[in-house]
Amino acid sequence: MNEIVTVNNVTKSFQHKKAVDDVSFSISKGEVVAILGPNGAGKTTTISMILGLLKPTSGEVRLFNLLPHEKQVREKIGTMLQEVSVMQGLKVNEILELIRSYYPQPLSIQELIALTGLTPQDLKTRAEKLSGGQKRRLSFALALAGNPELIIFDEPTVGMDITSRKRFWQTVRTLADQGKTIIFSTHYLQEADDAADRILLFKDGAIAADGTPAQIKASITKQSVSFVVDPEKSLEKLYQHSEITDIFRKNNRVYIHTDNTDRILELLFQERIGARDIQIERGKLEEAFEQLTGESKEAI
Ligand SMILES: Nc1ncnc2c1ncn2[C@@H]1O[C@H](COP(=O)(O)OP(=O)(O)O)[C@@H](O)[C@H]1O
Ligand SMILES: [Mg+2]
Repeated sequence: MNEIVTVNNVTKSFQHKKAVDDVSFSISKGEVVAILGPNGAGKTTTISMILGLLKPTSGEVRLFNLLPHEKQVREKIGTMLQEVSVMQGLKVNEILELIRSYYPQPLSIQELIALTGLTPQDLKTRAEKLSGGQKRRLSFALALAGNPELIIFDEPTVGMDITSRKRFWQTVRTLADQGKTIIFSTHYLQEADDAADRILLFKDGAIAADGTPAQIKASITKQSVSFVVDPEKSLEKLYQHSEITDIFRKNNRVYIHTDNTDRILELLFQERIGARDIQIERGKLEEAFEQLTGESKEAI
């Protein structure tokens, strides 16, 4: 069976607000998928429903073709959530041993150390005395303890320093190379681009785009054709063409936004616009992302 996660027409409403609105996707074995979107886009709600921590208002989630809370499913998933809570009174190595004992085929403590960067000092520390960084390493180790097939992280790198981040993404790569299926959420385009094979771009509780990082980047960066033209020249003939998503004049130049710059060049000649000094540009990725996710200060 190749489909590890299936989300079918899932909606989650809180009072009158739809946090997730009729979302569907499926994830195959071995994929590394980023759920990318700004704060409030519905990432945590979606992940919580995948994990069976929240029940969809409508629609259905299936993991390994079973419901999320079934025992055979629990044994195959590992997760690290935004809120880190740890058991008081036990040392890190005791917590790890305890959690490992719940699983049929846990990773060894040595393997967990190698993957997460837990130190001998960490292992001896009592849970209530852990620093933020130590807590993170512990929760990472707990996520991996059962040697899960499916690993889910909600904004895993928030609050991590650069060294920990690097180490974290290296481990994710190692796990991906072992054939694990990995889902993580992030609000950083760069992180999704670097670490994922596939991006599900969330906006306002829905999927705005789904594709490889290259496809997502191409779909969100606006291309434009700009040129100089005699100010008296009417551009009205261009307006009727649907390939043009926007057209405006700025500093003696005319700018056309489009998905198809080749077609615009054809049109300029076909309609005898008399365009000079033609330039083709691709918009900046970060700007496009901010615009798409509604975090920009101003529209161009
Ligand atoms: N328990 C809740 N009660 C009411 N509203 C919620 C609850 N959880 C999330 N929301 C709302 O649902 C939307 C999506 O939230 P969330 O899934 O946490 O987004 P993200 O993780 O992408 O930042 C937000 O508008 C948030 O305020
Ligand atoms: Mg969140």
